[in-house]
Amino acid sequence: MSKILLTGGAGYIGSHTAVTLLKEGYDVVIADNLSNSDKQAVSNIEKIAGKSVGFYEIDLCDRDKTFDMFKKENFDAVIHFAGYKAVGESVAKPCMYYRNNIDITLTVLEAMAEYGVKRIIFSSSATVYGPLNPIPYVETMKTGDCTNPYGTTKFMIEKILTDVAAVNPDMSVVLLRYFNPIGADPSGLIGEKPQGIPNNLMPYITQTAKGIREKVTVFGNDYPTVDGSGVRDYIHVVDLAEGHAAALKYAFNNAGVEAINLGSGRGTSVLELINAFERVNNIKVPHVIGPRRDGDIAEFYADATKAKKLLNWETKLSVDDMCRDSWNFEKNQK
Ligand code: NAD
Ligand code: UFG
Repeated sequence: MSKILLTGGAGYIGSHTAVTLLKEGYDVVIADNLSNSDKQAVSNIEKIAGKSVGFYEIDLCDRDKTFDMFKKENFDAVIHFAGYKAVGESVAKPCMYYRNNIDITLTVLEAMAEYGVKRIIFSSSATVYGPLNPIPYVETMKTGDCTNPYGTTKFMIEKILTDVAAVNPDMSVVLLRYFNPIGADPSGLIGEKPQGIPNNLMPYITQTAKGIREKVTVFGNDYPTVDGSGVRDYIHVVDLAEGHAAALKYAFNNAGVEAINLGSGRGTSVLELINAFERVNNIKVPHVIGPRRDGDIAEFYADATKAKKLLNWETKLSVDDMCRDSWNFEKNQK
């Protein structure tokens, strides 16, 4: 069976993708420095899938260690999750974000060239569409104009991968532009564990439901949306993981570069998400309306047609499923 390297595979999206790939029969190797994850995730992946994974605790900026791993393992493909992802922190510490996210990518690409690995799937983001495009976002739209260094790293890495593929016609590069991943594996063993005060909406909701936070602040109710609160395209992380399996299959059969949105194609407002969470889990989430958050836009969601056409993939799980599984994971945390 094919052997797949998951950079950053101990993290939130990588761990769910590892489970999906193991269930589909792939051999999985994770390389992660655990800067935003812990080793427990690796044993939980094995517990859920009933199979073992390879694990390297390495910094992927470390060229020698990364090359040694490639030399030993003979990978058939790479799924590249590793990177820093906090928008606010990237504004405060731009060099740290450019250094880590770009450096890892270059090291991995050079190791792939050295050891003849031809396929890479990259964790990009809807953030590459910037604040100026109309919705829904379509892959053919202009990208760039990102409002923070984190987003710019995604845009830059998409460009780097495209340039490398241009001179390697037998290479396959899939740029997956995720919308807003939430939810968790139904086992409750793996999920999103933000360090400190969460920036994103769903972990804030679950921590408030648990009593760790006092209340959720809804950032603005005067946007031109269905109820005035911000609208996003939430996607269950298990659906997202299956999107990676579909992209991998595509990469094994096609050369070239494709950017593909992974979203549901539907928008949900902040208030709708809070209401769904309260209804599905029969629990109160205290919330108040506050001012808009700097840099936010009113509404965005994916045009999900290309993923359906090219990958034969679409989301299956609902917002209710996301609310149930996010809460199930949070309840399990000590
Ligand atoms: P995560 O932080 O849970 O996982 C990233 C992993 O990369 C972590 O386990 C971290 O320890 C590891 N890592 C970071 N720097 C490393 C280094 N130098 N060497 C080795 N490992 C390193 O994040 P996630 O939510 O699973 O996201 C995965 C990818 O998807 C990221 O690239 C992120 O930018 C992208 N993405 C995430 C979202 C989201 O909302 N979660 C949305 C769009 C795109
Ligand atoms: N929100 C609140 N209160 C909160 C947190 C968020 O009302 O406490 C609102 C935001 O204003 C927004 C919505 O909830 O309307 C979603 O906010 P998130 O912070 O959860 O997600 P974003 O859409 O702002 O950004 C996320 C990632 C980015 C990524 C983008 C697109 O954080 O890195 O999705 O993939 F670029």
